[in-house]
Amino acid sequence: MSKDKFYITTPIYYINASPHIGHSYTNIASDCLARYYRLKGYKVHFLTGTDEHGQKVQQSAINKGLQPRDFADKAVLVFKELWQKLNISYDDFVRTTDERHIKIVQRALEILYRRGRLYEDLYEGWYCTPCETFWQETQLDSQNCPDCKRPLEKITEKNYFFKLSEYQNWLIEYIKNHANFIRPLNRRQEVLSFLELNKLVDLCISRPKERLSWGIPLPFSKEHVTYVWFDALINYLSAVGTFDANDSYQSEWWPADVHLIGKDILRQHAIYWPIILHALDIELPQTIFAHGWWLVGESKMSKSRGNVISPLEMADNYGIDVYRYFLLRDVPFGHDGNFSEAAIVKRLNSDLANDLGNLVYRTLTMIEKYFDGRIPNVDLATNEPQAKKIIERIELLPKEIVLYLTANSDFDFSLVLEKVWELINLANKYIEDTKPWNLVKERKEEQLKAFINLLVKAIREVSNELLPFMPSTATSILEQFGKENIIKGKPLFPRIIEK
Ligand code: MSP
Repeated sequence: MSKDKFYITTPIYYINASPHIGHSYTNIASDCLARYYRLKGYKVHFLTGTDEHGQKVQQSAINKGLQPRDFADKAVLVFKELWQKLNISYDDFVRTTDERHIKIVQRALEILYRRGRLYEDLYEGWYCTPCETFWQETQLDSQNCPDCKRPLEKITEKNYFFKLSEYQNWLIEYIKNHANFIRPLNRRQEVLSFLELNKLVDLCISRPKERLSWGIPLPFSKEHVTYVWFDALINYLSAVGTFDANDSYQSEWWPADVHLIGKDILRQHAIYWPIILHALDIELPQTIFAHGWWLVGESKMSKSRGNVISPLEMADNYGIDVYRYFLLRDVPFGHDGNFSEAAIVKRLNSDLANDLGNLVYRTLTMIEKYFDGRIPNVDLATNEPQAKKIIERIELLPKEIVLYLTANSDFDFSLVLEKVWELINLANKYIEDTKPWNLVKERKEEQLKAFINLLVKAIREVSNELLPFMPSTATSILEQFGKENIIKGKPLFPRIIEK
């Protein structure tokens, strides 16, 4: 990662279905990293967007009696509203229908064509219309799509191909030489095994216009539009740069520091994308990180299975920050998780209401009661083991977190939160063991002041670390503990009765 900039991207989402908790997961995780790196003083560029071409969108538009572009304009609002609601601090939103994007896709195609990397041939194969994916005979054990299980269509047509196969050995070497290129490491291994066991076939990068009109026209063939994946991947470039007169790509942000994606689209990102970039003489991204899936009752969420959970509904029912916290805390990043509302309620009641909420509320109440709302400014050198441990934790925590939120540590959000909670729990235990009301009775005022002062320090440190995870909550805590006085608000997390 270069020192002063941090360019992070999310997948660009298909617009033919409403966003669900899986989509929100990637954006919340990206947002957390973007906020963290901003706070650390990096120049951050956080890109998200929408993938708007292709058959499914065309079909959805027809079903609604709309032009695809009008359909897209409406659908994009749903995504933008959701990101706003969830406090997603993206810097740019790219749409594949943006003029800037179309221009770069066409330029990239034209460069590859001139360099002899694209050729025309007959395509014959099995096609899944809903997934917009071609399948090789060897990948099939029935006439149904291996992904969505729906029937495939046999298709023969003239198309353009990209010479993916020529780069197989180069890619294997590249992945082997760059430990952080694909993370977590089990995903890297998965890609390597795939490349070592299978021969790559050239990638069909066009669709005949007569079958699909809603796409970016190929600059060298009027009868074709670009295959949706070739179009989509280029968004990471088109949003942040351009090609100069010598076909050299120029951007202040590129290479991306992290492409955050779900494991479902690892192959496109870890195989097609590096090869496309290499053929264009463009540096590769630093890290492609594939997180796991949120499952509902053991199966992946999808419109066709009818088990889609709305992120808006979750945020409305439990609170935006509770929802963000839950997603990043409950499952180690990279693993699959089982989504349930009961699990959110459990986290809300124990970690948030009980641990964090109580610590904040008790401390505010003591400051109000014992010191008229003024934060005591007494910093005693202490030999008390519990206090020493808390001081040590406050000092260590930021140093640990800086390491956990890197590709090397697989952006371990859950571990960060676990460590923050260690400090919260130490502070709560300190209150219980110190029994401040006894200090009051015994008139040990200096000790009481130092005790409260340390709690405030711990709470400020906790809140600073929580800013990227729960921006509003952390800001509100920091505001309640003003410079000299407290401004006590309502309890942060009202408990919810467990069903
Ligand atoms: N348009 C392509 C991506 C192109 S990127 C150049 C696409 N879009 S999508 O709308 O299907 O979104 C896929 C992404 O949504 C996944 O990679 C993942 O980030 C997220 N998720 C979708 N379902 C998910 C779960 N059930 N669980 C977690 N995240 C998943 O693919």
